[in-house]
Amino acid sequence: MPAEDKNAKGLGYISTTLAAPVTSAEAALRPLSFGDFTGQPKTIERLQVMVGAARRRGDPLNHILLSGPPGLGKTTLAFILGHELGKSVRVTSGPVIEKAGDLAGLLTNLEEGDILFIDEIHRIPKTVEEYLYSAMEDFRLDIMIDQGPNARSVRLSLPRFTLVGATTRSGLLTAPLRTRFTLQTRLDYYDHATLINIVQRSCRLLDVEIDAGGAKEIATRSRGTPRVANNLINFVRDYAQERAQGRITQPVAAAALELLEIDSSGLDEMDKRMLRIMADNYRGGPVGMSTIAVAVGEEAETLEEVHEPFLIQEGYLQRTPQGRVLTAKGYHAVGLKPFAGGDQQALL
Ligand SMILES: Nc1ncnc2c1ncn2[C@@H]1O[C@H](COP(=O)(O)OP(=O)(O)O)[C@@H](O)[C@H]1O
Ligand SMILES: [Mg+2]
Repeated sequence: MPAEDKNAKGLGYISTTLAAPVTSAEAALRPLSFGDFTGQPKTIERLQVMVGAARRRGDPLNHILLSGPPGLGKTTLAFILGHELGKSVRVTSGPVIEKAGDLAGLLTNLEEGDILFIDEIHRIPKTVEEYLYSAMEDFRLDIMIDQGPNARSVRLSLPRFTLVGATTRSGLLTAPLRTRFTLQTRLDYYDHATLINIVQRSCRLLDVEIDAGGAKEIATRSRGTPRVANNLINFVRDYAQERAQGRITQPVAAAALELLEIDSSGLDEMDKRMLRIMADNYRGGPVGMSTIAVAVGEEAETLEEVHEPFLIQEGYLQRTPQGRVLTAKGYHAVGLKPFAGGDQQALL
């Protein structure tokens, strides 16, 4: 396949730490260094230890797997690692790497110590995944060229690179791939205080005037997720400009978010569908995740990794050995009263 085609698929997309994509509003708000990144204290400390040690020894950073729901900072952290190490970050994603040759193209273009960031790494084809093992472990690739009687295996030696993988579905990674990452670290939803800081930081960068009440209101409705917070800020900023002389206060933020029909708890459509199905069809549970998944028409793994952690953290549902159980707060979130009677009452 010619190089241009690969570029069209996004394979050849390189961004260095200095030339990080700044086209979208999202990229403009992206923290660039550890010092600029708020929250996730455990993950940050682990990464700082590894970066510090790698720099001191002059070694490439060990391979790192970042997991967690969308919008919490996985891509941001991959760029921060590049920035902190002074190395380039080459970005690709699992489904784009269709065959071993694609992987070889990416890896042979890296320089010693560079980072290859593979987003959605759980979606990498199995046939390609096997080549990653030796690339990660021994920095070599044995690939077959030609077919039939001319087929032969060629060994490519690779620069010592760092693989940073990101996934929303760590449960779908095979054990052989997972264990080749020195560090596997999970990002959690941000607590309210941290989100308030993030909202204030974004507003500072966007030159938007916001008071404490406004920041609190936006943080409350951001579902623990910086990406959501930034999206809400963008709309609230427009609203404030058109309706309130540009200043974001609590009433202004609340009115703007009402207009968007963003729930005061920040729950999204799928969160609410899960809660409603549990209340309406299963009397609040206990009910198995696979049953809920069929009822809402989504994969169980996605519900488990993208939606459930937030619902549990915020106390809308509980996980029990018998299945998921809706709490009183969960009923209220979908405008219902807790079901009176039944096993789950003891758990409310
Ligand atoms: N800790 C943080 N502090 C400030 N902004 C953050 C933080 N984490 C994420 N963001 C913002 O949220 C957006 C989404 O982050 P991203 O790294 O793309 O998430 P993911 O790759 O996990 O889906 C980015 O634009 C970034 O600016
Ligand atoms: Mg990402």
